[in-house]
Amino acid sequence: MKAILIGLVFIAGCLTNETEDEQQATLPSTQLRSGQQIFEADVFPILVVTCGGCHTGAQGAALGFSITDATSTYKAVVANKLLVGDFTPAHAAIFHIERISGHVGLRFDTTNIIAWLDQEHRERQ
Ligand code: HEC
Repeated sequence: MKAILIGLVFIAGCLTNETEDEQQATLPSTQLRSGQQIFEADVFPILVVTCGGCHTGAQGAALGFSITDATSTYKAVVANKLLVGDFTPAHAAIFHIERISGHVGLRFDTTNIIAWLDQEHRERQ
């Protein structure tokens, strides 16, 4: 009897794992990651390079936006209504950085920003 029970538990374990593997194989990669994970992996490095020159330390704090580590920067960005709006590219200034005074001519690749905003928008619906 004991052996049968152990066998059943083993089979149940295998079935559960298989289902998770199948889900991972069929879902597009962005749906597997939270908005925060996408931000920290794909958006934060862009901000460090593009914005970090002016927005770090005391200078950043004085300008009202400061880049620190990925997690703290995520929290600051999603709390900044100017930068994220309603998490659609149309209303998020982070997507149209030239709309914020002081940023004329500043350009960077926004592909990852769109993927991240889309996920944040989904999570908030
Ligand atoms: C060349 C320097 C420079 C770079 C690079 C830069 N900024 Fe700024 N940023 C400024 C200045 C100057 C201000 C203050 C503008 C003002 O008050 O008129 C500012 C202000 C801001 C503010 C506050 C606006 C407000 O009204 O509260 C945000 C948010 C911001 N920047 C985000 C960013 C982001 C995101 C990036 C990168 C994509 C970036 N900045 C890159 C110089 C820079």
